[in-house]
Amino acid sequence: MSRTIIALDFSSREETLAFLKQFDEPVYVKIGMELTYACGLDIVRDIKAMGHKVFLDLKLHDIPNTVKGGMKNLAKLGVDIVNCHCAGGIAMMKAAKEGILEGTPEGQEPAKLIGVTILTSVSQEAMNEELGIEGTVLDTVKRYARNAKEAGLDGVVCSVHEAKAIHEACGEDFLTVTPGIRLAGGSADDQKRIATPLYAREQGCDMIVVGRSITKSDDPKAAYDMIEKEISDGRI
Ligand code: C5P
Repeated sequence: MSRTIIALDFSSREETLAFLKQFDEPVYVKIGMELTYACGLDIVRDIKAMGHKVFLDLKLHDIPNTVKGGMKNLAKLGVDIVNCHCAGGIAMMKAAKEGILEGTPEGQEPAKLIGVTILTSVSQEAMNEELGIEGTVLDTVKRYARNAKEAGLDGVVCSVHEAKAIHEACGEDFLTVTPGIRLAGGSADDQKRIATPLYAREQGCDMIVVGRSITKSDDPKAAYDMIEKEISDGRI
């Protein structure tokens, strides 16, 4: 299985389908709020029908009952990964899991559920001073990951810098999905806790999420192949 998830942060169906045409084989893509709010959930169904694997990144965060209902409906789409914010608490994460299990059509594999820890665009300073969370990002991310595990989640979204500690705290089977990936010398954009694909591999990240380093590249397919090779140790 590919370890690179391409973030389809586009605002139209045309742009998205034109981008995907460059790939001959099915890939793992992430559909987030930009594309979903532009095209609705039909784009998710269509991309799944094309054979691609889908991480539906809608980051649910609400009271448990509402999240459960939302997840129940998302589970009907047959996507591969969905997520919610760990900041919603253990009860909310448990409700998210229940919603997925209840909504998954019989005979289908339920989507994996992962929790968003501290966004990779949030720095240590912003976490302490703006969000009012004391301590280090690492400690907070570890606490959120343990809560996610206790709630029955399959893993978390975190930065590359926290993946190793999360595997130590929650086990090697607990998935670490890491955005904030940049090629050596590339622009950080709005991300703060960034790392290269090679470093992600060294830190034991299970999957990396890459958006602009692929989608804004002059040759997206070549950028994808290079990143996939770097993260997978030549195993492509
Ligand atoms: O363009 P870039 O590679 O920075 O895109 C990263 C993607 O990962 C975006 O779609 C963003 O929403 C998502 N993401 C993130 N940090 C998180 C969770 C998701 O950057 N903690």
